[in-house]
Amino acid sequence: MCEDLTNREGGREFGSVLDVGCGTGRDLALLTERMRIPRAVGLDLQPDMLAHARARHPHLEFHQGDIRDADLGERFDLLLCVGLVLSNLHRSEDLAAATAGLARHAAPGALLLLELAHGTARPAPDLPSAYTAGPYRATADYQLDPAASTLVRRRTWHGADLPAPVEDFVTFRTVTVEEMRALLAANGWELTTTHDNRQLREGPLQGWRLTMTARRTG
Ligand SMILES: C[S@@+](CC[C@H](N)C(=O)[O-])C[C@H]1O[C@@H](n2cnc3c(N)ncnc32)[C@H](O)[C@@H]1O
Repeated sequence: MCEDLTNREGGREFGSVLDVGCGTGRDLALLTERMRIPRAVGLDLQPDMLAHARARHPHLEFHQGDIRDADLGERFDLLLCVGLVLSNLHRSEDLAAATAGLARHAAPGALLLLELAHGTARPAPDLPSAYTAGPYRATADYQLDPAASTLVRRRTWHGADLPAPVEDFVTFRTVTVEEMRALLAANGWELTTTHDNRQLREGPLQGWRLTMTARRTG
């Protein structure tokens, strides 16, 4: 995704980037290097993620906070919110507060790159049925509830050193393009592109993840 953004926005120079839900800081470090962005800041809820990010990328700046109410007192040219960060917010008012939080940190004309779970009518054809993490493998099942705007993923992990299969599950808040267009507009963003894949291929929006860009208008 960093690569695709680099290619797409290759002509544009960014002076600063804020990665919201930066996790381990991997994407932020990669993007900053590829796009030669002089100032890079990461924000995340979880202290253990930030400890890892600081140890791994000591040249970057990281802050702990929740994008719904965070105020770093700075505005950025480029904002990232990828890896389904906002899909963890299940209530519409939280999604609105997060969109406003992103706007609070955006310079005029700033570019926002967002990734969200897509509210399709039926389970999307590209939902992954298997996952791998190091020596561990999982199969995945999904339950889509269009009325509740949720997608539940249950995974069952197997590994040679696991005495029994381990299960995990997550509930993603799903969104439609029109819902996000309205929410972004209400908070000073103009939705500029929407894709259903990280390679930004054009086509009907059928996939389970939406990759969106928006421009700060307010
Ligand atoms: C799945 S990880 C994605 C990490 C990274 N962006 C990536 O794509 O690899 C989601 C991250 O978002 C963070 N997060 C979730 N809700 C957040 C919020 N409201 N404000 C800031 N960070 C949040 C979590 O702590 C977690 O590190």
